[in-house]
Amino acid sequence: MTVPRIDPFHAVGLSTLAHQMAAEGRDIVHMEFGQPSTGAPKAAIAEAHRILDSDGMGYWESTPLKARIARHYLETYGATVLPEQIWLTCGASPAFVLALNSAFTPGARIALARPGYVAYRNTLRALYLEPVEIPCGPAERFQLSAAAIAALDPPPDGVILASPANPTGTILSDAEMQAIVTVCRDRGIRIVSDEIYHGLSYIGPVRSILQDEPEALVVNSFSKYFSMAGWRLGWLVAPPSLIEAVRTRVGNMFLTPPSLSQHAGLVAFDCREELEGHVRMYRHNRDLLLERLPELGIERIAPPDGAFYIYADIGHLTNDSLAFCTRLLADTGVATAPGLDFDPVEGNRFMRFSFAVSTDRLEEALRRMVPWFARAGRATD
Ligand SMILES: Cc1ncc(COP(=O)(O)O)c(C=O)c1O
Repeated sequence: MTVPRIDPFHAVGLSTLAHQMAAEGRDIVHMEFGQPSTGAPKAAIAEAHRILDSDGMGYWESTPLKARIARHYLETYGATVLPEQIWLTCGASPAFVLALNSAFTPGARIALARPGYVAYRNTLRALYLEPVEIPCGPAERFQLSAAAIAALDPPPDGVILASPANPTGTILSDAEMQAIVTVCRDRGIRIVSDEIYHGLSYIGPVRSILQDEPEALVVNSFSKYFSMAGWRLGWLVAPPSLIEAVRTRVGNMFLTPPSLSQHAGLVAFDCREELEGHVRMYRHNRDLLLERLPELGIERIAPPDGAFYIYADIGHLTNDSLAFCTRLLADTGVATAPGLDFDPVEGNRFMRFSFAVSTDRLEEALRRMVPWFARAGRATD
């Protein structure tokens, strides 16, 4: 058996180039990653200072944080999750590896939407699982549907849901999510739900899969809503039937996330006012981009219901999104992500803008991009 080949995350290459340009003195607007520029909540940082001065920081698993997460599921979604079903991890990324490795055997077929987060496809391959990509276009709002899952023959072993999704920000309706649960139950398909963008919705509350399917696995993180990406803290919720499988893997492969982050994360849970202020800024940035993108000649975009991305069709300007985004960066200092990262088949005519930057920086990016896109448009006439 050969070691699986996995693709690079092209936005990482672009970001490295952007940082090199910054080191050479160029002013860069970073819109390539979904990375809040706001930093951790103030009270969480204060708690971290206190812990640094007073705690030996050994291996540690925060019982209060697990209890707080369990309370969050009850209060926000009305879902009962026991603390022993919750596993603290260094972000959603290892939580995802843990989920897949605990629930599936090598060769299992896992369905997912295309476009989708680059790591889904690549992590599946790295774990000797087989991605079954379902093309989802504007007609499907770039999301999986119960009908698409029902049509898979043979049925896959698992499915990855992401709502709000990356790169599109689209959110599954409650009815569609419930229909997906029904189809998956009927066909014996295990659900893994990536809920990392929960809290970042512009169209009202988002449903957790745990409201409909207690057998699902859920990954989540402090990287997005909580604005703590570099603190590397996240969690997995596993159903009771998988607790033993997860426990043994955690003990052997991951151990515990940084204790400093766990202390800070617990405090962050109760910094709602500050965090909701960030969401108001993202909403403003989203509205600004929606209003101004037509000035760039960009009209065909996925509806950004949540998260902090706009996935845009730039097929009228290029059929090589990687070269296009690289040129945009070199000429203007605005870093974005090529669609190729999210969709190896059609992504060459899409790009993703992250609006997790400050409004000032977004306005600066627009100032630079408007004339550049006008020239790019003329070059293809
Ligand atoms: C959809 C999605 N899932 C998971 C992750 C990984 O996040 P973390 O920083 O928690 O590992 C990201 C990061 O951008 C993401 O967009």
